[in-house]
Parts: sequence; structure tokens; C-alpha cells
Amino acid sequence: MVQLKKYELTEDDFERFRRLINEASGIFFDRSKKDVLRLGLSDRAEATGSGSLSDYYDLLTTDAERETELKRLLANLSVQETQFFRNRPQFDALHKYVIPEIIRRKAREHHSVRVWSAGCSTGQEPYSVAMTVLDVLPDPEGWAIEIMGTDLNDEALEAARRGWYPDRRLNGVDRPNLEKFFRQEGKGYAVAEPLRRLVRFERHNLVTDPLPIGSFGTCDVVFCRNVIIYFTHETAKYVIEHFFDILNPGGYLFLGHSETLWKMSAKYSLVEMGDAFIYRKPLPRSLEGRRFIPERRLRDIGLPPHVRSDRRQRGNEKRAPATPQLKAKAEQPEDCKKLESTGAPEKEMVRTGRLHLDLGEYDKAVTCFSSALEQNRTDDEAYFLMGLGLEKQNDLEGAAECYRKAIYCNEAFSLARYHLGNVLERTGRLKDAIREYRNAAQGFREHPPGAWESELEVFDIDALVNLCEWKIESLGSQEG
Ligand SMILES: C[S@@+](CC[C@H](N)C(=O)[O-])C[C@H]1O[C@@H](n2cnc3c(N)ncnc32)[C@H](O)[C@@H]1O
Repeated sequence: MVQLKKYELTEDDFERFRRLINEASGIFFDRSKKDVLRLGLSDRAEATGSGSLSDYYDLLTTDAERETELKRLLANLSVQETQFFRNRPQFDALHKYVIPEIIRRKAREHHSVRVWSAGCSTGQEPYSVAMTVLDVLPDPEGWAIEIMGTDLNDEALEAARRGWYPDRRLNGVDRPNLEKFFRQEGKGYAVAEPLRRLVRFERHNLVTDPLPIGSFGTCDVVFCRNVIIYFTHETAKYVIEHFFDILNPGGYLFLGHSETLWKMSAKYSLVEMGDAFIYRKPLPRSLEGRRFIPERRLRDIGLPPHVRSDRRQRGNEKRAPATPQLKAKAEQPEDCKKLESTGAPEKEMVRTGRLHLDLGEYDKAVTCFSSALEQNRTDDEAYFLMGLGLEKQNDLEGAAECYRKAIYCNEAFSLARYHLGNVLERTGRLKDAIREYRNAAQGFREHPPGAWESELEVFDIDALVNLCEWKIESLGSQEG
């Protein structure tokens, strides 16, 4: 047990230690984590025989062994928590949409799938990615599949390379995958050869090292989950911008569910795939065309002949919760009732509804929008958002009605037309759907969506225009 009393962390030391750590790793200790920092520092100070934290600071900055010690300290201070198939909806999206899309796109020439798991800790994430790729492409002959896990923690990387996990760490892995990709060894399981072959591990510091383009090349997917939450906003922004440079056009960025690109980078588009939101580097306009395949579209499109169709059962997880701040905000006003009783303005009600929508609390969201509409019967935004909420609850007729009202209030509301087209298509009214997609495509070109629509961030307008055109064509051929 470390002798905490012996190691006081003065205000000056707190400032200089946290600056040093931030510059070396991006990790930032705010004031509320001062004790956590003190504990981690004391641990290393004791291990190195330093008499005080000031002595330890000198060792860290001037000693011949300083680099080795800094690595040890960072390993000690960083959170290593990880699991196999952590955040199942994201792996469902990878399995169902992202990998098939990459395979389709590269089936003619490149025949490669490259995924970078940045901040991979002890390796569960890249191995889960490898299992997912092999599940989609069970016979990858002729394909170069490369998955690279990187981290700044050497001990974690060693464990990842060893690829042995005790029983209790395997609960994310289902029985078929366990039997196929692991072999029992002692009180745990070791990653078997077919999986091991696809994954390699390297030390890489996201903040101080250059992008590993030289050693790895550009990639199709970057996973960087539960890493940037420990960074300052500026550092997170810097890292995210760098991912853009290593991603192939059309490539995907998976972040942790409490991490968002909000105010960090406008370069990516946010794509909703099933219950997950994934960031995407847009394709050049000329290539985007039919290759953009959001959620509901995939059922119409065949996978390449060598790719099996989806056989995985969707997990029970609900949509990933939003950020703690968002959650706190949405919970704070005791939902709409309180707002109603305080006579809050209609727009405030719409804002609260949107928070509920983001949290996946669709019934609460719908209540808020309908209260807003009681105050203003011509609020196109409230109708539209209420349509989204009802659609999520599978009330397609209700949703269609809302979208129609939104369009009635605002004829140039192309996004509502697009969603109306969606609902009509889902309910088999193809002729009407085609008409709405046509109106939407024309509208998107003539009146690009306004500020609050873009703010929803989910939409990539170029992709939507292409999508509408493609829908018109493919539904037209089904119609005969
Ligand atoms: C909480 S784990 C996340 C593991 C995995 N991505 C997941 O979501 O399950 C965070 C990892 O990020 C690593 N990390 C923190 N700062 C880093 C940096 N600057 N460069 C590379 N890895 C870093 C830590 O060492 C740790 O292994």
C-alpha cells in the first residue's frame, strides 16, 4: 500500500505534473481528479525510491531513465478497461453495413480491408473486429485483411500479443465464436491462429507520434473508442483531424458512445446504422453515388456472392446512451410536464424533445413535440421531429402524417419529404414514395437544408441526393 501521507501534491506540482502528462499523452487531469493523479504519482514515486513528488518530477524530467519512467507512469495513469464486442450495436453496424460496403467497394481491384484500433488496450477490440470481418468474409482467400492494434501502454500490448484471456474476460464472446476462434488453455482461452494471423500490435502514441501511414498505409476503418474522453478538447480535435488523413475516402471512424465530434470536426458525416452512429469520411461527390448505404437500404441490396448474409442475432442492447452531460440535461427538467407547468416557450419544449430523441427516449420526445405543437400549430420543426420519434416507435402512419404536416407548414422542407418517402416505401406505397424522393432530391438541390437541419449532423446532403436518385431508379424498376 502506497504511503500517501508521505506524498503531498502541492498546487504547483499538480500544475506541472498535469501539463507534463497532457503533453506526453493527451490525458488531462481536471481538478476533480487531483486525488487520482496523486495516487498514481505516489505509486511510481515510491517504486522509484523518490522522497517526494517534487523529487519524482525531477526524475521524470532530468534522469537518464526518464523516458522509461514516463512510459510506466502513463501506463499507471491510463484507464485500461475494455471488453470483447464492447458496445454491441457498433459491432452490429460493422458486421452488417460497414464491412460489406467496403468489400463491395473493393471487390473489383484492391481486395484489402484495413482496420486500425487506436488505443486498443489489451487487444479485445481488434480481435473482436477480426472475428467480425471473418464472420462476413469466412473465406478471405485473395483478400488482404489487416487489423492493427496500437496503444502507448507496453504492458497492455504485451497482453494483447499474448492473446490469452481468463474466463471472466470472455463474456462478450458468444459460444460459436469461442469455439471457432479460441482454444482453451488453463483457466482461460487463447486466441487461435486464424484470428491471430489478421491482427498485429504496435506501440503508438496518438499525441506525440506521427500517423502510422508508413508502417500500415491508409485504412478503411479507425476504431478509437474510450480514448479521447480522457483528452482535452484541443488534443481530441487534433487526433480526430489526423484520423481523417489516414482514412480512405468513404472510410469510417468509430468513437466511444460518450465521445462525439460535436464542435471538433465538420469534415466527417455522421451516419446512423441500426442502433449505432458512425462517423464517415465522405467519398468524392463523383464516387458517392450508390455506394452510400444507410440503415434500411441494405435489405434491398445483395451482398457479393462470397459473402454470407447476416446470421447474427441482434443483441438486446438498446441504443447507446448519450453523453452524461446530455443525459443530465434531459433528465433535469423532469421532462415536458415540468416545462409545461412553468409555461416554457414552445422552442424550449422542442429542444427538450430533441434531447430525449438523442437518448432514444422516443415516447418522452413525442410528448414534448406534441406539447410544443399545442402552443404553435405551424411549427414545422416540431412536426418533423415528432415524425422521427413516431417512426422510431414503428408508428409509420403517425410518422407519415407528421411529415405531411411539416411539409404543409413549409413546402421547401426537403428532409421531411425524404423521410415521408422512406415511410411510404416501408409501407409498400412505391409510386408515392418515388414522388416524394423526386421532390426531396429537387428540393435538396434548390434549397439546401437550413441551419437547424444541418445541426442534426446526421445528414450528408450530397449523399441524400444520390440516395434519392438511386431510390427513384430502383423503386421504379420494381414498380415495373
Ligand atoms: C479505456 S481503454 C479503451 C480500450 C478500447 N479502445 C475500448 O474501447 O474498449 C483506453 C486506452 O487508450 C490508451 N491511450 C491513452 N492515451 C493514449 C495515447 N495518447 N496514445 C495511444 N493510446 C492511448 C490507454 O493506454 C488505454 O489502453
